[in-house]
Amino acid sequence: MNPAKHDAMRKIRDELMEFRASPLYEYRTSNHYFPVVGEGSHDAAIMFVGEAPGQNEAKTGRPFCGAAGKFLDTLIEGIGLKREQVYITNIVKDRPPENRDPTPEEIAMYSPFLDRQVKIIKPRVIATLGRLSMGYVMRRYDLDLELEPISKIHGKTFETAFIDENNEQQPLTIVTLYHPASALYNGGMRDTHKKDFEVLKKFL
Ligand code: URA
Repeated sequence: MNPAKHDAMRKIRDELMEFRASPLYEYRTSNHYFPVVGEGSHDAAIMFVGEAPGQNEAKTGRPFCGAAGKFLDTLIEGIGLKREQVYITNIVKDRPPENRDPTPEEIAMYSPFLDRQVKIIKPRVIATLGRLSMGYVMRRYDLDLELEPISKIHGKTFETAFIDENNEQQPLTIVTLYHPASALYNGGMRDTHKKDFEVLKKFL
């Protein structure tokens, strides 16, 4: 374990616990939910970014621990990795009511935490899960012009960079994936997910 990374991540968690400015704070505390910071290796080469926690996640404080998470685990294992070897998080760290999509305002409020997590983990690859994550991450890393509907660019890789804490540019690949929940409504999507995940193999 890297103590500096651990402390930086802990600080994020402490700030999220007290994030009273968030429109989701009241809903979280009145339901005794947890913020979902993220989980996995702080030295991961691959960072998965979902949208926002659902009820299972908010109850446990763990990302992707419900049905969509089980399928995500299968996909990760399918490319020869263990869940503990990657880092899994979301853009928005608190559960939106009724599992609605996070609003643009919520994404804007929570995304600085994600940006800090990227600088802590320094992944080689960010794999976005779903269209909202894809939209935020691609715009954030200067890929606005490459943005297209997810049905067109799922399973693709995009080269960009991020600035680390020493102000140095680090290469970063964005891989745009469908949200694993889509396979729960449409079983036919499972093969598409599996095929898309294959692109991650070259970064192992
Ligand atoms: N969906 C997400 O986008 N994130 C989770 O953590 C769980 C479900």
